Amino acid sequence: MEEAVDAALQAGYRHIDTATFYCNESAIGRALKKWFDAGKLKREEVFIVTKLPNVGNRAESVEKYLKKSLEALQVSYVDLYLIHHPGGLIEKGDELTPCDDKGKVLIDTTTDHVSLWKAMEAQVDAGRTKSIGLSNFNARQVKRVVKNARILPANNQIEVHIYFQQKELVAFCRALDITVCAYGPLGSPGLIPFMKKEGLEVNKVPSVTPLTEPVVLNIAKKYKKSPAQVLLRHLIQRGIAVIPKSSNPKRIKENIDVFDFELTTDEMDDLNALDKGRRARIFNESSQPFDAHPEFPYRDFY
Ligand SMILES: NC(=O)c1ccc[n+]([C@@H]2O[C@H](COP(=O)([O-])OP(=O)(O)OC[C@H]3O[C@@H](n4cnc5c(N)ncnc54)[C@H](OP(=O)(O)O)[C@@H]3O)[C@@H](O)[C@H]2O)c1
Repeated sequence: MEEAVDAALQAGYRHIDTATFYCNESAIGRALKKWFDAGKLKREEVFIVTKLPNVGNRAESVEKYLKKSLEALQVSYVDLYLIHHPGGLIEKGDELTPCDDKGKVLIDTTTDHVSLWKAMEAQVDAGRTKSIGLSNFNARQVKRVVKNARILPANNQIEVHIYFQQKELVAFCRALDITVCAYGPLGSPGLIPFMKKEGLEVNKVPSVTPLTEPVVLNIAKKYKKSPAQVLLRHLIQRGIAVIPKSSNPKRIKENIDVFDFELTTDEMDDLNALDKGRRARIFNESSQPFDAHPEFPYRDFY
């Protein structure tokens, strides 16, 4: 992780996306500190995003988890703090996906987004985060937060890629002046291998492969770019922020080298037409152990 952050900063990345749930904040903090200490980077030049874990989805837990993140990242504030997922889990020690003795995930059915959001707002007031936002929230959930907010959500981070374009939710957020950040912008090719390694059932995860989509390959050939670069450019031209993940220095460089070409309107139309809708959602109930939660977001159309 430290090498990946190093390679990303060298390549010009200034947006770092992490979360308590990823267990990589300390490594990111060490990499950033090296850059700050060497005078190669100022804190205000980097945009750090981290997220409240499901086990922290209650008003009285927010401050504790954000303080832990700041300590691990070795910074006094983050730029954006997100509620990672609408569903809450019961706290059990330091576990991030706590289970009972039969292996069933301990769901906290009392999750209330209005009181949770007030605690998020208090973190802006306390100077621990510059802005606050949501992740994996559906339109109904976003609307409820906005209706009750003093400080509006700045962002909703959701799965978006060529086969699952989320046109309705993106438009809904945009109308409320909420920016959208796409996770899994390349179609998360690492997810199924990871789930298999963890012994998780992958049958219900759609096997989408945007990186080998013929329409994408043709456009890539025309511009002498890679399929990944075309996928990222498509999202950027839709006005969506992208956070591709790579730990490979060559691909890290490749994924930011997307600002020297522009897709035509016809190419955008061809790519927009590849949307398969909800059946192409990769991070569905089979990859998320919170599907029994009353606030599980993916039952609604968008
Ligand atoms: N909010 C949420 O609930 C949520 C959920 C999932 C992810 N995220 C965030 O979104 C980020 C990205 O999502 P993701 O990792 O699921 O999906 P992704 O960025 O679509 O895909 C990452 C995978 O693609 C490979 N890859 C990267 N660049 C490539 C290239 N140029 N050509 C071919 N393969 C390439 C990577 O392998 P190598 O590393 O070997 O290059 C890795 O296996 C995560 O790091 C995380 O910060 C958020």
